[in-house]
Amino acid sequence: MTSEEIFTTEKNFQLSTYSKLELAIVRGSGSWVWTSDNEKYLDLYGGHAVCALGHSHPDVATAISEQAQKLMFYSNVVYSDVRAKAAERLVSVAPIPLSKAFFCNSGTEANENAMRIARLATGRSNIVSFAKGFHGRTADSISATFLGKYRTLGEPNVPGHLEAQFGDLESIASVIDKETAGVLIEPIQSMAGVREASPEFFKQLRAKCDEVGAALIFDEVQTGVGRTGEWFFAGSEAAGGVVPDIVTLAKSLGSGVPVGACLVSDGMAASIKENDLGTTFGGGMIAMAAVNATLDVIARDGLLANAKNIEAWIRDACSHCKAVKAVHGKGCLLGVEFEDRAHPHYQKLLDAKILTGMSSDPSVLRLLPPLNVSEDEIKLFAEVLSA
Ligand SMILES: Cc1ncc(COP(=O)(O)O)c(C=O)c1O
Repeated sequence: MTSEEIFTTEKNFQLSTYSKLELAIVRGSGSWVWTSDNEKYLDLYGGHAVCALGHSHPDVATAISEQAQKLMFYSNVVYSDVRAKAAERLVSVAPIPLSKAFFCNSGTEANENAMRIARLATGRSNIVSFAKGFHGRTADSISATFLGKYRTLGEPNVPGHLEAQFGDLESIASVIDKETAGVLIEPIQSMAGVREASPEFFKQLRAKCDEVGAALIFDEVQTGVGRTGEWFFAGSEAAGGVVPDIVTLAKSLGSGVPVGACLVSDGMAASIKENDLGTTFGGGMIAMAAVNATLDVIARDGLLANAKNIEAWIRDACSHCKAVKAVHGKGCLLGVEFEDRAHPHYQKLLDAKILTGMSSDPSVLRLLPPLNVSEDEIKLFAEVLSA
């Protein structure tokens, strides 16, 4: 099909709920994707923060195709070698005391389950989350999303959701109390424009949760699985060493195969009984094969250190561009803040066949490149930026 035919067919037969680029992507390799008219784009948006190893990484492609020929699926009513390995592998890179995994299918589902765990563990119902955080579009997650129009799209919202101000110590002291089951935070607020909070804020947040007996949940759907140059934001220097009770993951975890997960502390896990949580597809064999291959490649190829190099290359490129006011974020989750609106720069990059992303802050353009994008590829971005 030509690009025009693909556009027309999708428009005719898909519910039009997405604002799309006029691009029909049919192939990808490394940091590059190709349109059906064989035009090549450098993808510094990583397929929407998903393709941490680049596109169609050969190890992941081989792992899922070999698994597909052995066993595509059986649910959680049976044990599975590939699921056992994925759970062990994921827990082995998580900070203590995160010691149990629950697999599901997406980021919003991971957050729904994390909030359920917090409620079950505490016997309370209130959830505190933060202004401008994004947590997904299903009922509970969208009710926790105090960003622009999203929460109202989810009306009637789930009761018991309260809003605190990100990075604001006074706000957490007044909103989190003995009725709080859990505090859900996106530790770097990506969609809001890659907003960060101080390590001290995370320490105080941990202390406040401990004081009132509430569960602390990090939504690491974007920050997790190596993107910030650490396996997880949890336990990192940027978090002040704070480890939450639950971490939620999705996006990069399966390198493009849909998969989500909650990593749960010993303490929280002790309150969860049979049938408290469940999903048919969570922990399916294809997804688990993708998780194992993703974690293996990140470790084998030193991609955590590489994510930090990439951040340095991008910061250097931006430091030579007068239009850039600041660069926010860590590793391969960066927000380039312009003195003026970011969209003209986004458009110039797109015209030069470089994909980046906008954010809900009109002055911030987001870069979410694969963790193995090369220095030469970042130079292509730098050239357009300086021009
Ligand atoms: C921080 C964060 N949490 C949750 C979600 C929801 O994930 P999903 O779209 O897989 O449901 C997203 C998606 O963009 C996200 O960025």
